[in-house]
Amino acid sequence: MRPNKQEIIDMLSVRGEGELNALFARAYEVKKKYVGTTVYFRGLIEISNICSKNCYYCGIRSENPNFPRYSISMDEALQEAKWAFDQRYGSLVIQAGERIDTQWTDFIAELVRKIKEMSSGKLGITLSLGEQTEETYQKWFDAGAHRYLLRVETTNRELYKKLHPADHRFEDRLLSLERLRKVGYQTGTGVMVGLPGQSIEDIADDILFFYDQDVDMLGMGPYIPHQDTPLNHLVEAFDPTEAFTLGLKLIAACRIALKDVNIAASTALQALHPQGRERGLLAGANVLMPNITDTKYREGYQLYEGKPGINENAAQVVQELQRSIESIGETVGFDQWGDPKHFFRRQGQ
Ligand code: 5AD
Ligand code: SF4
Repeated sequence: MRPNKQEIIDMLSVRGEGELNALFARAYEVKKKYVGTTVYFRGLIEISNICSKNCYYCGIRSENPNFPRYSISMDEALQEAKWAFDQRYGSLVIQAGERIDTQWTDFIAELVRKIKEMSSGKLGITLSLGEQTEETYQKWFDAGAHRYLLRVETTNRELYKKLHPADHRFEDRLLSLERLRKVGYQTGTGVMVGLPGQSIEDIADDILFFYDQDVDMLGMGPYIPHQDTPLNHLVEAFDPTEAFTLGLKLIAACRIALKDVNIAASTALQALHPQGRERGLLAGANVLMPNITDTKYREGYQLYEGKPGINENAAQVVQELQRSIESIGETVGFDQWGDPKHFFRRQGQ
């Protein structure tokens, strides 16, 4: 049944510790019932910070000259993937800025093939590489990728226009999501919350959009202003506690409204609170994306201010993360893909 908009607005408007905890507890019950309490790890490789787009909120937009651009080599990326495989991560996420040239799209296809080969087909691969043609999506799918994340950022068309240059069109995002589904990917999207000029009603519409689009996965998070962007005037008044709470409410409302989708506790949550990810799990998320990019590249991937650069490519960190997950009564789904249950329901399986 299509979720009720007023109910979503009410959830997103909750204030005060008691009411917030009641909302998170309710979302947790829904999570237990529909997806269980196993957490899936996706090792995140931020493979390049080169981007042809210029989104006004993003620290790595093309017109920010204040940091060097990098692309990780095939061998290095394979080493990172191998490390994740050895740590018994079920899947990887390969993320980068948007590039549509053939040199790049071929490189990605080759990398996906090699990762599949290295892991005897065992590592699941999610891509997050922006808007592409159907041919490119198909090429990557044929190489072995089976999930794709493409956030729409906001479904308020006017707000989308204000946050992007004129040639970044919301309709193109929708078209890409359609292509992804057509090719056969498990498809994920998401939005940012706390954007300038965004209302609670807008966010409720975002959640209804996820429902109407029948998405399998969600990666969402609070917007965090960045100094080197046209929106830098927002840095000073930014309230991390408020942004964090809104991020958690969004996860809870999505879990309650959408039930069997996979929801990631985003890195942006962790940037705002040391226990951000665990709190995300307790509010309804069931996926974590530990960053396994070699730390020497981290400085270059500052989408927002204060993005955690901690070294998660150490076996000790995996153990610590496992321990903290077990301390909240959950288990880690080592060696499992952890595909979204929603995808199989959508396929009628
Ligand atoms: N704060 C939070 N998230 C951001 N992203 C980009 N810039 C910011 C920011 N300032 C997110 C966008 C994009 C993803 C890769 O990072 O949602 O889709
Ligand atoms: Fe590029 Fe994505 Fe940043 Fe936009 S949000 S500038 S597409 S990396």
